Amino acid sequence: MDFKTQVAPEGTWAGVAADALLVVVTAGADLPKGLDAPLAAVLADALKAGDISLKAGQQLYAHRVPGMKAARVCFVVAGDGSAKAVAKAVGTGLATLKGGGSRHLAIGLAAPAEAAAATAEALVRAVHEAVYVYRHTKPSAPPAPKLTSVSLLCSKAQSADVARGMLRGQEIAAGVELARDCANRPGNHCTPTFLAAQARALGKSHGLKVEVLDRKDVEKLGMGAFLAVAQGSDEPLKFIVARYQGAAKTVAPVVLVGKGITFDTGGISIKPAAEMDEMKFDMGGAASVLGTLRAVAGLKAKVNLVGIIPACENMPSSRAVKPGDVVTSMSGQTVEILNTDAEGRLILCDALTYAERFKPAAVVDIATLTGACVIALGAHRSGLFSADDALAAALQSAGDAALDPAWRMPLDEEYDEALKSNFADMGNVGGRAGGAVTAAMFLKRFTSAYRWAHLDIAGTAWKSGAAKGSTGRPVPLLTHFVLGHGG
Ligand code: BES
Ligand code: MN
Ligand code: ZN
Repeated sequence: MDFKTQVAPEGTWAGVAADALLVVVTAGADLPKGLDAPLAAVLADALKAGDISLKAGQQLYAHRVPGMKAARVCFVVAGDGSAKAVAKAVGTGLATLKGGGSRHLAIGLAAPAEAAAATAEALVRAVHEAVYVYRHTKPSAPPAPKLTSVSLLCSKAQSADVARGMLRGQEIAAGVELARDCANRPGNHCTPTFLAAQARALGKSHGLKVEVLDRKDVEKLGMGAFLAVAQGSDEPLKFIVARYQGAAKTVAPVVLVGKGITFDTGGISIKPAAEMDEMKFDMGGAASVLGTLRAVAGLKAKVNLVGIIPACENMPSSRAVKPGDVVTSMSGQTVEILNTDAEGRLILCDALTYAERFKPAAVVDIATLTGACVIALGAHRSGLFSADDALAAALQSAGDAALDPAWRMPLDEEYDEALKSNFADMGNVGGRAGGAVTAAMFLKRFTSAYRWAHLDIAGTAWKSGAAKGSTGRPVPLLTHFVLGHGG
């Protein structure tokens, strides 16, 4: 998709040459003031006829409006001038326009939008969102929409800000799409080996240094917890390390650690059959690390960023780890594996220990870690855990700015008691109560060497039901966070 800014302030849209013009108006009582006469006439007429009202979510399609150069005009009503509301309205309009014959769309805001850059970023992402189609294993997927180019109309004064926001939106959208395409692929396609190949391809296209460790390397490192999860599967494990260097070598990197369980059956503590297919999305954390690397590298950000992905399957077999088995993690701490379905924390704890070697400015792990987090927060906000107030605040505000929000959860020491074991330094599960928090407390035991935060994306990484599919979250949050971190 090709995006451009076009200097065309409100009042000059009648002459805009595009196949379709999408006009965003804000909810309220009054018609927007500065509209071109032909547009104002259609809108006033439709309002009078009761075919549209100025309420959020409303829209009106008009074909060949006299006096307009664009053949199609679609009005959409945004709740207010926020980037979020404007992007939502554009999504509504695109649902109408994308199936049609338009190749070139122009978008005009007849609304006093807040920061032009933030709005432009959100618009670009909304367009990508509206036209995304998963097709890798579905030959019968609908053909790609004809839409190939989009112009954002703006005033001359705004155009630099709009261009900047647009670029950010495009790179974030590309990162989101990479994450979605990885996570939507089924477990027999998206294997640990496939994730490693994706990382290598990204390394080639975006100038990353990529290293992939195999079982032997992981054994040498003493990653007993990661190995225990992988041992039940014939699918070879991969430990992926991808590095982007955008700042001086001496600048401490941000390290992202993504859970890469390419399928989670639960292992010997096997899961029930219902919705088990959705456990192909259990590598959503890994996918978001790849997507963020792509976005940050694409923006040539002046930061150093390391992505670490422990990837394997969690399968039952005669060689699989059993409940009660005790393993030694890379940190030297031992773990009693009481439930083989709490595997995410086992692969992450060794990756968190491995992260120490980068002397990181901060480490953020991202994981579809607990069903309990879905119960706590639902599908709108990711769970955010950190003992570091400044780091938590930075992630929270990155999520808000990126329209990819998170919500801080507690990490009080009292929760740690649930992990006590008579046979090892800790068990790998607490009780059912506070399950998202005890999982985070488990990870915390491996993070004393650096500033650390954990994002539980079990509720936000994918949608269930008719719209089943990966969301690409939290690539937007992470990209904003990393950009904010290194300037
Ligand atoms: N990948 C799951 C978490 C999950 C479950 C995410 C359902 C989204 C929807 C994770 O590996 C898991 O199985 N967690 C267990 C932990 C429990 C055994 C302590 C869970 O949440 O049930
Ligand atoms: Mn599990
Ligand atoms: Zn899992």
